[in-house]
Amino acid sequence: MKNNFSREDLDLVILHLQSDDPKLTQGPLVERFESLWSSWLGVKHSVFVNSGSSANLLSIFSLKNFFPDGGEIILPPLTWSSDISSIIHAGFDPVFVDINPRTLGLDDLKVCDAISDRTVAIFVTHCQGFNALTDLLLEEIKKRNLWLLEDVCESHGATHRGKRLGAFGQLSNFSFYYAHHMSTIEGGMICTDSDDLVEIIRLLRSHGMTRELKNEEKKQKFVADFPDLNPDFIFAMPAFNVRNTEIGAILGINQLKRLDRTVIERCKNQEIFFSDLDSEFYRTDYLFEGSSNYALNIVLKKASPNLAEELKREMIHVGIENRRGSAGGGNQLRQPYLRKIFQNLYNQYPETDHIHFNGFYIGNYPGIEPSQLKKLAEFFNDFARRHKQS
Ligand SMILES: Cc1ncc(COP(=O)(O)O)c(C=O)c1O
Repeated sequence: MKNNFSREDLDLVILHLQSDDPKLTQGPLVERFESLWSSWLGVKHSVFVNSGSSANLLSIFSLKNFFPDGGEIILPPLTWSSDISSIIHAGFDPVFVDINPRTLGLDDLKVCDAISDRTVAIFVTHCQGFNALTDLLLEEIKKRNLWLLEDVCESHGATHRGKRLGAFGQLSNFSFYYAHHMSTIEGGMICTDSDDLVEIIRLLRSHGMTRELKNEEKKQKFVADFPDLNPDFIFAMPAFNVRNTEIGAILGINQLKRLDRTVIERCKNQEIFFSDLDSEFYRTDYLFEGSSNYALNIVLKKASPNLAEELKREMIHVGIENRRGSAGGGNQLRQPYLRKIFQNLYNQYPETDHIHFNGFYIGNYPGIEPSQLKKLAEFFNDFARRHKQS
C-alpha cells in the first residue's frame, strides 16, 4: 500500500496551522466537508466522526430511539468487528447470514429466509469495493418495512444501478482510515436523508449536548423544559464523544476532489489484474459491475487451507504484503469475542469460511503501474502452474 496523502493535502494543513489563531477542533471546515460529502453521495445529511467504527456505533445506537425493545439485525459474518460489536453494545441481537461469493456481500435469498418478526434492520457490508445490494434484497426490505443500514467503509464510489452505495439505506457509514479510498488519517462519515435521524446522530457524536442540534426549535425546547440548567450544558441522552477535527476536514475536502478519479484508477487496476489471473485456479467470476475496488482479492477456487498457507509463505518471501480472510480477517464468528456468545455457530457459514481459509487481499492504489500488476498476476499464475496437480 501507499499513503493516500498528496503533498498538496499536507501543505493545506500546514497553511491552516500557519494562519492566525487557527481553529483545530470541530468547526466550520467540518461542516463544509459534511456538506460536500452529502452532495457527492446524493444524500441530505452527513456527520463527520473520528472513525468508521464510530460511524457503525452511532448508527446502531440511533436505532435504540426507534426500537426501544431491541430486535434482530441481520448481517454477514464477513465484516468488520465494529459492525457486530455495535449491535451487541446497543442491546440488539445479531443474526448472521452467509455471503454470496461473487460479491462477498449478504446472500439475498438467505436473508429472505432469515427475516423474522423480531427483525428490525438489515446491515449490509459492501466488502472490498463490491456492491452487496440486489433488487431482490431492496424489494424485500421495502416489503417487510425494515431498516437498511449500509457499511460502505471499503467501497466509496461503488454503485447499484448507477446510484452510489450509501445513498440507499436510512443510514450509511464510511471510513477514511489509511488504505481506504480516501483518508483523513482517522475518520468516518454517517449519512442519512432523515432530518430527525441526523439530529440524533449529532447528539450521539458529542456527549448528547443539545447545543449540537441544528434545529433551533428543538434546541430551545430543551432550554425551556429545563430552566434549572445552563443552556450550554444540556445533555439530552447518554452518548459519546467521537468528533473529528478541522485538520481531518481539510484533508477530506481536498481528497474528495480526486475521489472519482482514483476510483476509476483503482477499477482499471482491478481489470488489468483479473484479466491476467488464472481463472481455473483462482476465483475471477466476481460481479464487477458498479464496483470500486478496495483491494485485489485472491481466493483459491478449490478449498485447500494448506495450499493457502503455502501461498502466504511465498508471498511473504517475495515481499507481497497480504491479509488473509478479506475484510476483518474472515469469519468473525471464529473470533474469541463472539465464540463466547455463539460457541460453534461459526461452522454454519461455508462461503464465509471459504474466504476465511482460502482468501487473501493485497493492496490496490492509484498509481500502480500496469507492468507491476501484470508481474503480480504472473507471480500468482506461476504458483498456480506449480500447484495445479496437488
Ligand atoms: C467494512 C468495515 N467497516 C468498518 C470499519 C471500521 O473503520 P475504521 O478503521 O475507520 O474504524 C472498517 C475498517 O477498515 C471496515 O473495513
